[in-house]
Amino acid sequence: MIPIHENLTGRVAVITGGSGVLCSKMARELARHGVKIAILNRTAEKGQQVADTISRSGGTAISIAADVLDRSSLMNAREKIIETFGRVDLLINGAGGNHPDAITAPEKYGEGVEGNSFFDLDENGFSQVFSSNFTGTFLASQVFGKTLLQAEAPAILNVSSMSSYAPMTKVPAYSAAKASINNFTMWMAVHFAEAGLRVNAIAPGFFLTKQNRDLLLNEDGSLTARSNKIITATPMKRFGQPEDLLGTMLWLADESYSGFVTGITVPVDGGFMAYSGV
Ligand SMILES: NC(=O)c1ccc[n+]([C@@H]2O[C@H](COP(=O)([O-])OP(=O)(O)OC[C@H]3O[C@@H](n4cnc5c(N)ncnc54)[C@H](O)[C@@H]3O)[C@@H](O)[C@H]2O)c1
Repeated sequence: MIPIHENLTGRVAVITGGSGVLCSKMARELARHGVKIAILNRTAEKGQQVADTISRSGGTAISIAADVLDRSSLMNAREKIIETFGRVDLLINGAGGNHPDAITAPEKYGEGVEGNSFFDLDENGFSQVFSSNFTGTFLASQVFGKTLLQAEAPAILNVSSMSSYAPMTKVPAYSAAKASINNFTMWMAVHFAEAGLRVNAIAPGFFLTKQNRDLLLNEDGSLTARSNKIITATPMKRFGQPEDLLGTMLWLADESYSGFVTGITVPVDGGFMAYSGV
């Protein structure tokens, strides 16, 4: 169990995509350190389940319906958060995901795999995936930025991916969006450095979640061809578990640990990025 970061107690964190697999873990961990949590998700009920779990363990959390691509819903959420908690110290931009319309069936052109080729990709699907992973981070940072700047030691934590460095096959929109996240993290870090707002990102490696379980595991629980490649390329030889992200999250959120750190993306990947495969 990670020692309590007392420095964070009483602060307020806004977590977009906070009812998702990885960010709900982050929410619960921050709450354990005394941080008040606002979960922002398109469906308030899903966020409410996470908020209820936090409340049952003695923490403080609210759930608000908000779409990171809808500025007015974000502004409405900000109003409710200020009304309830009076401040925002940390923004975690966790909302994101993928969609079949933006995924090619074959890894490489001409493989003869049935389904979407690169030339079939739907431009709306492509834009939607790019936007939910990138523009949503921009919009939420804009909407909560001014409030963050009033805090004593504010921070933004973006969520990137291994696909931001060398793009994974099949997912061009997602990869381009996550590469943009790394770039935008540096941009915002520079822009707000003198104003005291630190901006960093976390780049998870491969985590087995409900969403990608079917891609990564066969029905009998064995590895698919794709997940075999992942494990082969991960020196630690396992998928990540949501808990693996928590230490890095706390380090980047707590300026008593990372007060001179801004503009970086930290891989939490079991060595995936360091490995050339040879
Ligand atoms: N699971 C992995 O292996 C992995 C690896 C690298 C990066 N990531 C990133 O981590 C983050 C969380 O992923 P996860 O695996 O927990 O997935 P998840 O699907 O469980 O969580 C994503 C959450 O974002 C929400 N969301 C999506 N679009 C939204 C929108 N427009 N407005 C508001 N909420 C929206 C979804 O409803 C969901 O609750 C994502 O940014 C993802 O790209 C995941």
